[in-house]
Amino acid sequence: MADECFAHPRLAAIYDPLDTDRSDLDAYLRIVAEVGARRVLDIGCGTGVFALLLADREIDVVGIDPARASVDVARAKPGGDRVRWIRGDATALPPLRADLATMTANVAQAIVDPHAWQKTLRGAYEALRPGGHLVFETRDPAKRAWEKWTRENSYRVTEVPGVGPVENWVELIEVSLPLVTFRWTYVFAADGQVLTSDSTLRFRDREEVETDLVAHGYVVQDVRDAPDRPGKEFVFLARRP
Ligand SMILES: C[S@@+](CC[C@H](N)C(=O)[O-])C[C@H]1O[C@@H](n2cnc3c(N)ncnc32)[C@H](O)[C@@H]1O
Repeated sequence: MADECFAHPRLAAIYDPLDTDRSDLDAYLRIVAEVGARRVLDIGCGTGVFALLLADREIDVVGIDPARASVDVARAKPGGDRVRWIRGDATALPPLRADLATMTANVAQAIVDPHAWQKTLRGAYEALRPGGHLVFETRDPAKRAWEKWTRENSYRVTEVPGVGPVENWVELIEVSLPLVTFRWTYVFAADGQVLTSDSTLRFRDREEVETDLVAHGYVVQDVRDAPDRPGKEFVFLARRP
């Protein structure tokens, strides 16, 4: 079950307008160039922002996500017909022989269940060609990012074209490490509808992720800083030998 913020059609439709700064994707674009990827599997593609950036660069892209409403938003965008969209997860993919698999915007943390996480790493591995890479980021648990996830820090009102003003904010519900649960609230001024979306993220430390990658046959090629969030995230670059 995908979280409401990705699976509810009204919330999926405002995902991009509420998060217009996607400079987080620059580091991924650099890695696409660095490894010379021509075929990319974007796992947890959401509303397809990254997949469409790649399609614009004539890269063959498959975008996969369990949230139907998000995939529908992605498919309907200009250029959406140049991407192969799949509703699902990485556990049952067709053979792709991809050069690169990506999980942008902390998708890895959204895969909370340990079994689902292991199956995702295996599925990505099998979707890669030998020599292909997997890249994803996770927040460093030591930085305790959730401590800033308060209504006071997050409250804003966004004028969404065609929708009107939308108020939204986040509140912590439970911290039971390695799991952190929080709730986004959205208020649509046009008709007063209030929607909420609860999410749980798993915070894995660097050693745990490296161990998981090696256990699935990957070579951990590099663990980098996210340039737009220095010191806060780990960006893992792993290779299928
Ligand atoms: C924060 S969004 C990021 C979306 C997109 N990658 C981006 O950069 O905008 C997290 C996404 O992970 C997806 N997701 C959750 N569980 C997943 C799973 N097991 N496999 C693949 N994607 C998953 C959600 O549906 C959601 O679209």
